[in-house]
Amino acid sequence: MTFEKIINRKQTGSVKWDMLDSLFGDDTILPMWIADMDFDNPLPVKNALKKMIDNEVLGYTFPKSSLYSAIIHWQAEHHGMRLTEEQILFSPGVLSSVAVTIQALTEPGDGIVIHDPVYTPFAMLAERNHRQVYRSALTIEEGQYRMCFTDIESILKKPDVKLFILSNPHNPGGRVWTREELITLTDLCIKNEVVLVSDEIHSDLVYEGYDCLSPVTLDDHYKKWVVTLHSATKTFNLAGVKLSFILVYDPSLAKKLKMSLEETELDAVNSFGMCATEAAFLEAADWREELLHYLSHNRQTIIDFFDLHLPNVSYMKPEATYLFWFDASLLNVDATELKSHFAEVGKIALNDGISYGPNGRAYMRMNFAVPQSVLMDGLHRIKKVFDSK
Ligand SMILES: Cc1ncc(COP(=O)(O)O)c(C=O)c1O
Repeated sequence: MTFEKIINRKQTGSVKWDMLDSLFGDDTILPMWIADMDFDNPLPVKNALKKMIDNEVLGYTFPKSSLYSAIIHWQAEHHGMRLTEEQILFSPGVLSSVAVTIQALTEPGDGIVIHDPVYTPFAMLAERNHRQVYRSALTIEEGQYRMCFTDIESILKKPDVKLFILSNPHNPGGRVWTREELITLTDLCIKNEVVLVSDEIHSDLVYEGYDCLSPVTLDDHYKKWVVTLHSATKTFNLAGVKLSFILVYDPSLAKKLKMSLEETELDAVNSFGMCATEAAFLEAADWREELLHYLSHNRQTIIDFFDLHLPNVSYMKPEATYLFWFDASLLNVDATELKSHFAEVGKIALNDGISYGPNGRAYMRMNFAVPQSVLMDGLHRIKKVFDSK
């Protein structure tokens, strides 16, 4: 089984493995933090990259029609989207796409709404671009995050608010938003003339029983107000090759985004990213199925472990993503100390909940895209931290 293989990623410039010392103060601890996988890449992707290196000159390149076709095919097959080439724009990463969207569709001082908690860089990029961040706290019902629409509506009504950035599905909670939730949210955005940015980088990593929907597929009218961000890099473990795409139907939004990409030269994307994305979408669909199977086994292992050994620790069962979000408040450790506490006591690197927003303060996030043996090691390290209390 390819996913069982232990791969030594040290000294490869891996953020996850080689930045442990600078970020956690100890390079011997087990990294289960930043969201890339300790799995080898799909063979068809590696072969396509090798073929490119062997046969091509690595000069200036542009997105070929075969890349557009691969994306159009993937989005139709997996997300029910109908796209043309003109509706696809490229940038090096989903985060560059978030930054470009902020710059193209808002002005300094404008308001941007995000959830609390949510993927850390949304707030960071809004703030770096001198926009006002409004956080709408997620509530918890039946162990899962829910949007609070009365709160969202009161924020969207503020005249300075221009953009809502949604993690769809939700990182860090792993929630797959329902059709009703997405419809309510999109309707509220449109009613208040706010563009909805749907970041769908995790949308191909969804567990059985759930369906991650793209707002643009729910109503034709939504296409005017929604910008979708996606990439093959999360699903196929290609974060280092840097390629993402922006899907935009409305010509006036597309024009603004295109202009911003051109102004920054961010539309000049990397040939390895294009090659890997095309191969992944065209030739690695089976690999993704096997990956999901493996990840869902890991997810069950974690749940069984927590239920047996840590029955008082609450957690969110991920409906998507390979991220496990659990409540560490039993430890009575200050939110700002949790990361170093887990590193010192458990010798494990996790993401601390507070970095996702004040509402995440009680939580820790574990990346479980690792071989089973590593997962068991990580779970015992987490148990050690709770046992040491
Ligand atoms: C919701 C979300 N958006 C964007 C990114 C980063 O995307 P990229 O590496 O393409 O910039 C991540 C990475 O974990 C993510 O979770």
